[in-house]
Amino acid sequence: MCGIVGYVGTRSSVEVLLGGLKRLEYRGYDSAGVAVIDDHGHLDTRKHAGKLGILSDDLVATPLTDGQTGIGHTRWATHGGPTDENAHPHLGDEGKLALIHNGIIENFSELKAELLAGGHTFASQTDSEVAALLVGDAFRESGDLTTAMLSVVNRLEGAFTLLAVHSDQPNVVVGARRNSPLVIGLGEGENFLGSDVAAFVEYTHHAMEIGQDQLVTIRPDSVEVVDFEGTPVSPKTFEVNWDASAAEKGGWSSFMAKEISEEPEAVAKTIIGRVHDGLVDLPEVTALGADVLSSIDRVLIIACGTAAYAGMVGKYAIEQWARIPVDVELAHEFRYREPVLSPNTLVVSISQSGETMDTLMAVKYAREQGARTLSICNTQGATIPRESDAVVYTHAGPEVAVASTKAFVAQITAIYLLGLQLGQARGTLSPERARGLVAELQSVPEKLSTVLATGERIKELAHWMADTRSVLFLGRHVGYPVALEGALKLKELAYIHAEGFAAGELKHGPIALIEPGQVVFVIVPSPRDPSSLHAKVVSNIQEIRARGARVIAIAEEGDVAVLPHADEVIRIPLASPFFEPLLAVVPLHIFGMELAAAKGLDVDQPRNLAKSVTVE
Ligand code: M6R
Repeated sequence: MCGIVGYVGTRSSVEVLLGGLKRLEYRGYDSAGVAVIDDHGHLDTRKHAGKLGILSDDLVATPLTDGQTGIGHTRWATHGGPTDENAHPHLGDEGKLALIHNGIIENFSELKAELLAGGHTFASQTDSEVAALLVGDAFRESGDLTTAMLSVVNRLEGAFTLLAVHSDQPNVVVGARRNSPLVIGLGEGENFLGSDVAAFVEYTHHAMEIGQDQLVTIRPDSVEVVDFEGTPVSPKTFEVNWDASAAEKGGWSSFMAKEISEEPEAVAKTIIGRVHDGLVDLPEVTALGADVLSSIDRVLIIACGTAAYAGMVGKYAIEQWARIPVDVELAHEFRYREPVLSPNTLVVSISQSGETMDTLMAVKYAREQGARTLSICNTQGATIPRESDAVVYTHAGPEVAVASTKAFVAQITAIYLLGLQLGQARGTLSPERARGLVAELQSVPEKLSTVLATGERIKELAHWMADTRSVLFLGRHVGYPVALEGALKLKELAYIHAEGFAAGELKHGPIALIEPGQVVFVIVPSPRDPSSLHAKVVSNIQEIRARGARVIAIAEEGDVAVLPHADEVIRIPLASPFFEPLLAVVPLHIFGMELAAAKGLDVDQPRNLAKSVTVE
């Protein structure tokens, strides 16, 4: 949840840290702080509650004596409220050591009691300060930061990334991770640590993964990684395939606006290079082996939030194309009920960040139970892909706004590619049918660009509804997860009551919510679809309209049957049923963003949230 950056080299560390924190602020924005070892070997810190801007302004008004080694932190509060005292860094060894932490130290009460008994006092209510004091004490014994950190990490329970600096070792930053993200950026005469590559992509594209329970020591000219037993390990390196500019607003009013505009590209880039001779070719999946693919008798999709809705859309497609039963489960509910898994179960996790703790733990559990695991992920070097047997990357580019948008359409695209690959491999899709579906998927980016053009009208509607206190969303079949996604966006961005329903469920209860003036978005299936769903949803619209609802229909071009029944119709291009969600969701993303903007809210950093939920 928190953003972490570390630097050692020749540049101004304050500049590197603030730049890195700016790009990591989406991970948490309750407070921020830095610790720098200055040119005189003195350690200084500055930290403030509130957004990063408060810290940066203060550092401009009253600069720290700068140096070339430092650590920085942007916080999403867990233990202790968002106050100056609870902001990181925390200090140990009488102010000579500074430490930052992401995660939760579950046994902090016992450790704190021990430290209090030993005469320590605490300056904050955080669990993190325990680690600062312990590493500080250990440094006093060994005089070496790596040794000190190693002696402490095995005493900590829970999830953590820790970075520390000590004024007695001015050119060293030490990091450690367990179930929480940390990557290394490799430079020339300088090295970096970050919660993700955004922390250092401005300076280097050359990166290195750190595994679970590993510890890294960076100096300007060296990087050493050991496991928690102290045994050296050789981590994998990788090249970051996007530029710092991809994580900048680039003239847009918000990251969210920019990322919505990138939805066509997110779909296109996720398909590129994965279609040969009109058929899907995912070596990542075929590498699992033909015998494995043919023996899969169940797919279980695990994910949270928006990623779970992408998984729900994927369920319909995989079942239809590959004829394998698919269940979708919220990752946090999964491992606490002894789920039934077998080696023939393919567990597919979906995560934009690749760091969501609930999803990570579910993947680990599934592996322990003998299931095959495949992750769909947007972030290189992230933990979930590393913990899975196979990974299909989405190529949406960095997603900075807390509300997920372009990642959603990229996730659906990736899971469709997986469904098509499975259908091809198992012979449940004829090559002709598969080619037709692939061609239609490839046509989606252009259609998405058309949908983006409806943005102005949606903005008008959103501004007109700025005082609305409740909005409902209805959909059926693949339109149902789209309804859930529309509602989630409104909740997290505009802080109003919003709910998504399966349209068929209405008369089983939710229709009682309808009163005059209630706004209801309805995702209308295509009238060209041979199923009778279009007629059924139009009947649902009539039922709610008869009770006073104001209906905004999202319907395909040429659907005239819906016109008499809707107060407003937002048009999407013609597409067969499975491809409608990719188009219908865009107006809902725009609506969520515009309604929040109309209320004067921060659409990129909604209250109480963080982009990447790395605690359970
Ligand atoms: O990084 P992940 O895809 O694993 O994140 C999952 C959810 O936390 C995320 O989709 C969340 O629901 C978004 N804020 C929704 O916009």
